[in-house]
Amino acid sequence: MTTTTSATESRFGPRQGQKPQGGHVSAPLTTQRSDRWQKGPLLTLLGFGSFVVYVTFRAFQGLDYYAAPYLSPFYSPLVYANPEYYAGSPTFHALMGNLPAEALTMWQQMIAWLPLALPLSPAFFILIFPASFRGTCYYYRKAYYRSVVGSPAGCTVCPIAQGTYQGETGLLRIQNLHRYAMYFAVAFIFILGYDGWLSLWMPIDAQGAPWIAGGGDPATYQFGFGVGSVVMMLNVVFLGGYTFGCHSWRHLIGGRLNRFASSSGETGLSYAVWKMTSWLNQRHMLFAWVSLFWVMFTDFYIWAVCNGWITDLNSWSQTAAIGQ
Ligand code: FES
Repeated sequence: MTTTTSATESRFGPRQGQKPQGGHVSAPLTTQRSDRWQKGPLLTLLGFGSFVVYVTFRAFQGLDYYAAPYLSPFYSPLVYANPEYYAGSPTFHALMGNLPAEALTMWQQMIAWLPLALPLSPAFFILIFPASFRGTCYYYRKAYYRSVVGSPAGCTVCPIAQGTYQGETGLLRIQNLHRYAMYFAVAFIFILGYDGWLSLWMPIDAQGAPWIAGGGDPATYQFGFGVGSVVMMLNVVFLGGYTFGCHSWRHLIGGRLNRFASSSGETGLSYAVWKMTSWLNQRHMLFAWVSLFWVMFTDFYIWAVCNGWITDLNSWSQTAAIGQ
């Protein structure tokens, strides 16, 4: 028996208003499923939405991103410090020192029409890279296609938008940028790893005391560790687990091959790295969420220490107390 598809019904299913064939529902967000399929998309919307709101607020705030020796991952690498808005800017930590006065003037002219003064936050120069990586990630695509635009909201759930299905063609071709964003994301793992190393070195002022905001350049650095060091290093571990489980990364390091080099067989280094990446890749969703939460927590921890909401337990304060 042959089945025919009407001329107006695409091969991807009926459009809105069309009588469905084969007993499928056609009203947006309807389904014949009896489970609570809404739970996943709603939790995703809540988690991802909270993260976006938090990061946007912290990026525009442009403050409290350095509690010696901890630098917030949202502000790393610190391209410049901006003492115009933040007297405690760690100029010594910035790649280009203080923000040039001309750049500040240009920014103020650009935002003159706004009713409020927005700082030229150092985070503006950084977050575009992780945002483009996460925003085009294969897992996050699924997550926000389901939870934000509801197209589709779930398997066998009728999508909200029911025009001609184009997949990731047209404007969504932009998702192909993921393979390029991946290179920047890998670089960020090393940058944040370096920050983790610096979190073990407390800047010390000329009087031999730990550096405080507004205290000028440090005279030296003293080795030690604190809770913040652990928080920052775990951040690198989780972000590394997410980044090195990326589908594009997996393709790059071995997925594109039909077989590994015969000289090394399946015991060679490239095969071992590919196996490790595959392990991470199978847990990509887990690492996506854990790293998302932990990078937010790392920033919050540093923000809280900056404001004195919490006290960082560390070896430097213990050393100072013993010396008193
Ligand atoms: S597929 Fe998720 S980070 Fe590349």
